[in-house]
Amino acid sequence: MPDHSDANAETKAKPGHGGQDMWGGRFSAKPADIMQAINVSIGVDRRLWAQDLAGSRAHCRMLMAQEIITAEDGEAILNGLETIEGEITGGTFPFRDQFEDIHMNVEARLAELIGEPSGRLHTARSRNDQVATDFRLWVRDACDRTGQQLKTLQRALLDRAEQHADDLMPGFTHLQPAQPVTFGHHLMAYVEMIGRDAGRFADARARMNECPLGAAALAGSPFPIDRQATARALGFDRPMGNSLDAVSDRDFALESLAAASICAGHLSRLAEEIVIWMTPQFGFVTLPDDLTTGSSIMPQKRNPDAAELVRAKTGRITGALVALSTVMKGLPLAYSKDMQEDKPPVFEAFDALDLALTAMTAMVLALTPNVERMRAAAGSGYSTATDLADWLVRELNLPFRKAHHVTGAAVKRAEALGVDLMQLPLTELRAIEPGVKDAVYKVLSPEASCASRMSFGGTAPDQVRARIKDWRTRL
Ligand code: ARG
Repeated sequence: MPDHSDANAETKAKPGHGGQDMWGGRFSAKPADIMQAINVSIGVDRRLWAQDLAGSRAHCRMLMAQEIITAEDGEAILNGLETIEGEITGGTFPFRDQFEDIHMNVEARLAELIGEPSGRLHTARSRNDQVATDFRLWVRDACDRTGQQLKTLQRALLDRAEQHADDLMPGFTHLQPAQPVTFGHHLMAYVEMIGRDAGRFADARARMNECPLGAAALAGSPFPIDRQATARALGFDRPMGNSLDAVSDRDFALESLAAASICAGHLSRLAEEIVIWMTPQFGFVTLPDDLTTGSSIMPQKRNPDAAELVRAKTGRITGALVALSTVMKGLPLAYSKDMQEDKPPVFEAFDALDLALTAMTAMVLALTPNVERMRAAAGSGYSTATDLADWLVRELNLPFRKAHHVTGAAVKRAEALGVDLMQLPLTELRAIEPGVKDAVYKVLSPEASCASRMSFGGTAPDQVRARIKDWRTRL
């Protein structure tokens, strides 16, 4: 067991002081060291300081407006909160373990600064609705910040897609060459995914934008509070409709973690592709020195560590979703201390996602595709076999299954002769299907293959450019 006895010695609760001051006369013994060690959360929830001050200010102003506290006391509280904000931003605020969490740290400091009136701030409020409000505000900001980052990544992808709307690469299924596509088209696939990710964060934000403040401990308050006013002051659409629900659900956090997890999954796929494209065997893209690392032993190495770490961050992010889902499962209404464990996974996930998005955007902007090599690969692997089959259907009116069979025989023959479909002599093709004409070669180049895929959302360069234009208007 870890030794907690002299950790944070100078901030530890002293008999008759500290933690139990907060709940007053009922307690005569100070908390055991292990009680404090397992209970303390200030090291984590100090990140909620700005939200906590915003919530306290809104609550205080409402109490004044409703004449629940006097203007004089209210002013003293607001001034004290102002001083605290200065101390926190100036780095002089004493964050103390003995006061457990951010809420009690602020309150304890307020008492030191302004004395008695500080005790009136907690009228008609509980830490339960306070933390629910603070955390909602934090997650709401995180969703907004992530939304901006997703837009930035989309713009980077759009720019690169536009530059490479005509440049060919192999499209894969099963990571086997399938049909030629353009690099622009491939990048635009991620623009779509990231767009849906942004939509998920926006949906979560809209649903979470109701205010728990005023639910108090669990049952509401006997004071004539104005929940509409505090909700408005904090930018919420309305107060939450049930006080038990308000203090005891964290579905808003789960929903944003689900959005983060799906988004991280998308990023990991692009990261994986960058890793594959960067291998000498593929050689499709390079990243500049400042976005790769070397090896301490193998001088030839250039490693895509940033892409690998983006890929790996998915573990933490999806892990956070699983962690919080597990914390919440089966909790009876209303608040339980289990819910204090909501913050570490959320902070960790959003920190990881922030890094992953920033790194991915940098890589997208900096990567150099090897256009010639991708073009060459696009034409290899019999990637236009489907175009041959389609030609047989269109021009010779063969049923597709028959055309598929004929094409398979042509590929087999080309393989035996060690040539591409393009280079397979007409006599060879006619030996398999006598109706074939010279015009067939027009559809066998990867350029022609791409250009022919004009269906909405297809890889034809004109289609890709049209979708780029759509997205530019949407963004
Ligand atoms: N630090 C606590 C949390 O994050 C604040 C709420 C405490 N409420 C309580 N009833 N002990 O959940």
